[in-house]
Amino acid sequence: MAMASILTAAILAAAASITVGVAFNVPAISFDDGYTPLFGERNIVRSPDGGSVKIILDKASGSGFISTDLYYHGLFSASIKLPSDYTAGVVVAFYMSNGDIFEKNHDELDFEFLGNIWGKEWRVQTNVYGNGSTNRGREERYRLPFDPTAESHRYSILWTNTTIIFYIDEIPIREVERSDAMGGDYPSKPMSIYATIWDGSNWATSGGKHKIDYKYAPFVSDFSDLILKGCRLDPIQQLPAMEQCREEEGRTAAADYSVMTPEKRKEMQRFRREYMIYSICYDELRYPVAFPDCKVVEEEKERFKKSGHVMAHPVPAGRRQRQRRRGRAQRKGSYSSRVANA
Ligand SMILES: *[C@@H]1O[C@H](CO)[C@@H](O)[C@H](O)[C@H]1NC(C)=O
Ligand SMILES: *[C@@H]1O[C@H](CO)[C@@H](O)[C@H](O)[C@H]1NC(C)=O
Repeated sequence: MAMASILTAAILAAAASITVGVAFNVPAISFDDGYTPLFGERNIVRSPDGGSVKIILDKASGSGFISTDLYYHGLFSASIKLPSDYTAGVVVAFYMSNGDIFEKNHDELDFEFLGNIWGKEWRVQTNVYGNGSTNRGREERYRLPFDPTAESHRYSILWTNTTIIFYIDEIPIREVERSDAMGGDYPSKPMSIYATIWDGSNWATSGGKHKIDYKYAPFVSDFSDLILKGCRLDPIQQLPAMEQCREEEGRTAAADYSVMTPEKRKEMQRFRREYMIYSICYDELRYPVAFPDCKVVEEEKERFKKSGHVMAHPVPAGRRQRQRRRGRAQRKGSYSSRVANA
């Protein structure tokens, strides 16, 4: 009897810990309900209840996981705790992409976390690519209003047919509205969701000046409160299969998290004023003419003019692309093996 009630309590506790992070009123799923290991499987450690997972980078390998299915629009979210102490060169990424399927014209939405040397904070970068716009990177970088290594914080990507919103802890930090002028640069094809940790020594910290020091390994990042809420498509299915997404599409468009209210926009502007340290919208050296999706705020523009462009250490495009290509090759192998095993 006592044993049974202890067991019951344990089971309830396990169930509760999976759904405890109800962000935007969307219940979280367990790792195995939405994701599967992608590479470095020995460096992926699931919690006993299956609700969270650690991905680890050590001298032998990084690691990463991928959603079992593709998604066409929706809310994609995780609570993430980043590795602490000396993390120069370490990159943690939470992103969506279809680069495995569309090599020349892929779409991608990124949260990338860039480690740092002692006493310096992690940086967060967001990016948007559509239809293979890899030579038109749309980076933005931010500091964070909290210590991302002390506890988990939620990072979310909302992607609908008309808008993309990046959230940190339910505060919108970036909004990209679709326009005709943006054309194919707006992501438009189903994507997988990825989380990875890897050695980005040659660009991640101060443009590659500070490399990884494996003396401080293993580097461990914790993912929990996993949300994959969108129209789910089997990767084996013929694409496009978007017709079947209309209903889910309507639900996504109507959800709170898809609607940018004046209050939310104000919060977003406050965040950007305080924490944004780089935006392509103000980098006139890289892009003399701002992208149509840039909403230039005069105050921000002035600030970036004064601080110049050095402050942000934007990644030299060539270097970044080499790095990405290597990353993609790894993902590609894994995608093929997934298809082969299906
Ligand atoms: C999405 O937007 C595009 C371009 O604005 C439009 O042609 C298409 O019909 C829309 N699709 C859905 C499912 O609403
Ligand atoms: C996507 O890119 C290809 C060339 O790579 C181009 O032919 C096509 O028109 C583009 N699609 C859109 C929607 O811009």
